[in-house]
Amino acid sequence: MEHISIPSALKTGIAPSPQDAPAIRWGILGAGWISSTFANAVTQRTASTIAAVASRDVTKAQGFIDEHLGSAAQESRAYGSYEELVADDSLDAIYVGTPHSHHREHALLAIKAGKHVLVEKAFTRNVAEAREVLDAAREAGVFVMEAMWTRFLPHIAQVRHIIESGVLGDIVTVIADHGQAFEFDAEHRLYNPDLAGGALLDLGVYPVAFAHDVLGLPQEIIARGVLTQTQVDGQISMVFSYGDNSQASLNTTLWAQTPTTATIAGTKGRIEIDGAFYAPTSFRHITYSRSVASYERDDVLGLEFEAAEVARCISDGKTESPRMPWQATLDIMSMMDDIRAQAGVVYPGE
Ligand SMILES: NC(=O)c1ccc[n+]([C@@H]2O[C@H](COP(=O)([O-])OP(=O)(O)OC[C@H]3O[C@@H](n4cnc5c(N)ncnc54)[C@H](OP(=O)(O)O)[C@@H]3O)[C@@H](O)[C@H]2O)c1
Repeated sequence: MEHISIPSALKTGIAPSPQDAPAIRWGILGAGWISSTFANAVTQRTASTIAAVASRDVTKAQGFIDEHLGSAAQESRAYGSYEELVADDSLDAIYVGTPHSHHREHALLAIKAGKHVLVEKAFTRNVAEAREVLDAAREAGVFVMEAMWTRFLPHIAQVRHIIESGVLGDIVTVIADHGQAFEFDAEHRLYNPDLAGGALLDLGVYPVAFAHDVLGLPQEIIARGVLTQTQVDGQISMVFSYGDNSQASLNTTLWAQTPTTATIAGTKGRIEIDGAFYAPTSFRHITYSRSVASYERDDVLGLEFEAAEVARCISDGKTESPRMPWQATLDIMSMMDDIRAQAGVVYPGE
């Protein structure tokens, strides 16, 4: 077996550098955990700024600014309501970092104020809500994207480059999982049906979106789930069939730390992406019995790549990203509706 190295997608230019994207002024809606990760990535790794942060509590918004924006904190405004944030005319785009249950409401709030929006995954609770948000964006003529950050990461850009070269042959199998062990807490957003809890929308969205990126929309989905005491999905295993030889085999769980790896296997070779496959990581391209090529993890944070994509699209006058278009979000949400129906999970009011 020959062992070789795959050059970094950043060094070859297959993945554009986030630092080179135009500078925009972001407003952050919801001062929670992922919003802090996003703020760090934008501040440290792009030319853009976090110009305002809104929380339902203005003290929390100011605390977020002081803690995460470093020397740029002076330039950033704290708001005590989401309404005040979206009305701020100095902002170019709003990042929605609230629970899935509230994405529809908060994305619509920003769109109706004429703002471009990046909405955390899962985009909404279901495809009907996703359609409502995207219809409003179409009408308002603003940019909207689901924050499926994986699609913009350098290792995934390199994986796509390999797939498109045809060296894997016909892709017949995709295997991916995402499991993390969370202690039961009926009030926490992961277990709370009022906050659209469950493994699928939070963790399973990554393997589902990954299979969609590689193989597209399946012809048939078979899913089996196990519910928590709160009647959200604690675990789901899924098989996607595409009407030809190809299948995807996926799992997600809130109860165990699974490897969170992904494999794309074709008739001539396979790609093995190390855990966590959806975040910056390493991978191998194995040509059956001849060579192993390794890609080393890039020195990146992660969320700067999706932020840069939004900045580029807005500057180019686009309303959707060609790499994460609205149809991809609608496909993924309709697939998750199907999976959730088979698992027997219904959110309040659905
Ligand atoms: N891309 C990723 O890697 C990644 C990772 C984790 C999570 N996420 C996604 O990001 C979203 C938020 O997750 P998170 O882990 O950051 O959650 P979190 O820490 O609980 O933050 C969510 C924030 O939403 C706001 N919020 C508004 N209405 C709320 C309500 N009724 N209940 C609770 N919070 C409410 C709160 O902000 P204020 O109190 O400041 O108003 C809260 O801090 C989810 O959609 C999740 O799937 C993405």
